[in-house]
Amino acid sequence: MKRIVIIGATSGIGLALARLCLQKGYRVGGCGRTVSALEELKSAYPAQFEFERLDIRDTGQIPQVLNTLISKLGGMDICVVASSIGGSSAGLDWQKEFDAIQTNVVGYSAVLNFAAQYFIKNGSGHLAGITSLTKYFGFRNASYNASKAFEAVYLQSLRLKLEKNNIRVTEIVPGFVDTPMVKENPQMFWLVPVEKAARQILQALEDRKNTVYISRRWRLMSWLLPLLPFFVIRYFYIKEQKLKKTDG
Ligand SMILES: NC(=O)c1ccc[n+]([C@@H]2O[C@H](COP(=O)([O-])OP(=O)(O)OC[C@H]3O[C@@H](n4cnc5c(N)ncnc54)[C@H](OP(=O)(O)O)[C@@H]3O)[C@@H](O)[C@H]2O)c1
Repeated sequence: MKRIVIIGATSGIGLALARLCLQKGYRVGGCGRTVSALEELKSAYPAQFEFERLDIRDTGQIPQVLNTLISKLGGMDICVVASSIGGSSAGLDWQKEFDAIQTNVVGYSAVLNFAAQYFIKNGSGHLAGITSLTKYFGFRNASYNASKAFEAVYLQSLRLKLEKNNIRVTEIVPGFVDTPMVKENPQMFWLVPVEKAARQILQALEDRKNTVYISRRWRLMSWLLPLLPFFVIRYFYIKEQKLKKTDG
């Protein structure tokens, strides 16, 4: 049975994907900082689930922690990076910006780099990263949106570079999925339940797709969003600021 490592398996999409993979009989390795969530999965699936606490901002730890996890699992066939934080505050607090960049840019690419080297050594593998449709424009969360553009371009470059090594690279592009990350977003539509998102992601991984939109209807938006003129983005930005003021 396949062995999948999920970074960010403690909440939201990563947790739902971990649960689904376990139900389907995969061996799953989970990482994140919230050990209690990882312990819960371990007690529900003691023979199939392994975990290690990992804070991906601490990039020096990544090789050692992931090597330990992979040994416990008996190898790794798929690595999914589902970790992210939202980032910026209205006041552009630098600590928040820095944290988002450390997590979504530095940590994200460090994990992908480690997994790519592992798969090159092993002759094959499958990398996946979750980005977002926000990669196409700047909005409220400067560091978050910019980090998603970085992640998407990083994945595309890896796809090109690693094809010759028999390594597949999948970009997972959600619109809105019902998880703790978006609970305070006032302007959401086509919200997808997290279990449905996990099913669509696993199907895309099993089909070894290059890109999957969650849900599929967002593919259409992926054609339109890069064409949006600045005044339209500005309109929605101002509308959101007004909604926030009304909510107090
Ligand atoms: N939900 C949506 O509508 C939506 C839309 C577009 C894109 N996405 C993307 O989907 C992915 C998953 O988001 P989600 O909605 O499932 O969010 P979530 O529920 O907040 O989960 C985020 C995950 O990232 C992990 N994480 C954060 N910082 C970390 C760190 N320093 N080291 C290790 N793990 C860390 C968290 O684990 P710990 O806190 O335990 O460390 C958690 O497991 C993200 O890439 C997000 O940008 C989500």
